[in-house]
Amino acid sequence: MIIGIPKEIKVHEYRVGATPAMIRRFVDQGHRMLVQSNAGTKIGFLDDDYRAAGATIVATAEEIYKCEMIIKVKEPQPSEFPLLQKEQILFCYLHLAPDHVQTQQLVEKGVVAIAYETVVDRKGRLPLLIPMSEVAGRVSIQLGATALQMNHGGKGLLLGGVPGVPAANVTVLGGGIVGTEAARMAVGMGANVTIFDRDSNRLRELDIIFGPALQTLYSTPSAVENALIHADLVIGAVLIPGKTAPKVVTKEMVKKMQPGSVIVDVSIDQGGCIETSRPTTYADPTYVVDGVVHYCVTNMPSTCARTSTMALTNVTMDYALAIANKGYVKALTDDPYLRVGLNVCHGKVTNEPVATDLGYEYVTPETALGI
Ligand SMILES: NC(=O)c1ccc[n+]([C@@H]2O[C@H](COP(=O)([O-])OP(=O)(O)OC[C@H]3O[C@@H](n4cnc5c(N)ncnc54)[C@H](O)[C@@H]3O)[C@@H](O)[C@H]2O)c1
Repeated sequence: MIIGIPKEIKVHEYRVGATPAMIRRFVDQGHRMLVQSNAGTKIGFLDDDYRAAGATIVATAEEIYKCEMIIKVKEPQPSEFPLLQKEQILFCYLHLAPDHVQTQQLVEKGVVAIAYETVVDRKGRLPLLIPMSEVAGRVSIQLGATALQMNHGGKGLLLGGVPGVPAANVTVLGGGIVGTEAARMAVGMGANVTIFDRDSNRLRELDIIFGPALQTLYSTPSAVENALIHADLVIGAVLIPGKTAPKVVTKEMVKKMQPGSVIVDVSIDQGGCIETSRPTTYADPTYVVDGVVHYCVTNMPSTCARTSTMALTNVTMDYALAIANKGYVKALTDDPYLRVGLNVCHGKVTNEPVATDLGYEYVTPETALGI
């Protein structure tokens, strides 16, 4: 198959759909890989690295979008819509439910669009979203530790303390993927870490994973309030799938926190789990409410675009190879979990929530594929 890797053009998007290592695997299996010039330059994947891996470097998006399959990171931007081709396979994050314009374009163009975020695994997890939650969880502690410094508005605390001086108190709300990775980093940096969840089985698992290095607590408003009074750094990492994040921390609780403490609300992309949170960007990431520094960037992994690209392509690679080796019909027929990722096919919307939210007729992936 001839496969194209475009340069991402969404604002502040530095990730890329394939690393040179990924290119090599495809080339070894007989595929022709076209990479747009400078697609990975900003994150240290140079055109020469791609060439050495067997790719052909092309200058323009127009040349890339002539390929049978496009592998990228973010959804196509309006300037890319005219380049999409009938029956072209598009494999990337799409997030179509709130995006009428893009969905209409994919339908009109007759694209075969497989969305990273709706591919599932045998256990119903979202394998192509997990790595980004892992990055967000880990980076949240780095960002929070920096925000605790005087020059960033914090109270001047070093997370791990030093001999003879206490470590900082870190409270993590939600013990899923983000929360676990945040806890891992905070424990590693020597902080006193408490994690809350309302799933007792998850708390048991965390207790087994971390042992006495991590305090696990069942999430009730009073327990959270007590922890916040002593917390230096709070990480918001709760999620109720498909819903706006519950406000686990109220305005009144924030008022009781010590000035110069820091909140990093990773859940902000789902509305945030702290009542005083509002979305920010890396251009101006923090603001202060009642003396507490808030860090609420909606796309935290983007600051670690190289790590994020490697983590993402580690999980997309095998799916993309299956599609390239077998063709999309057989790949989607053979793998029912990948098939759940099919959002638009032959002019039909094949993802039920997207169809319902945007008022399209829902056609099952099986019907659209004729299988
Ligand atoms: N800002 C970013 O850049 C970014 C990046 C990745 C993920 N996220 C967001 O981070 C959030 C967490 O993602 P995840 O992958 O860890 O989800 P997850 O489903 O793995 O974990 C969420 C956890 O929250 C717990 N929870 C639910 N209600 C709770 C409550 N009231 N109190 C305490 N715990 C509660 C759940 O039991 C679960 O264990 C999501 O909103 C996700 O969209 C944001």
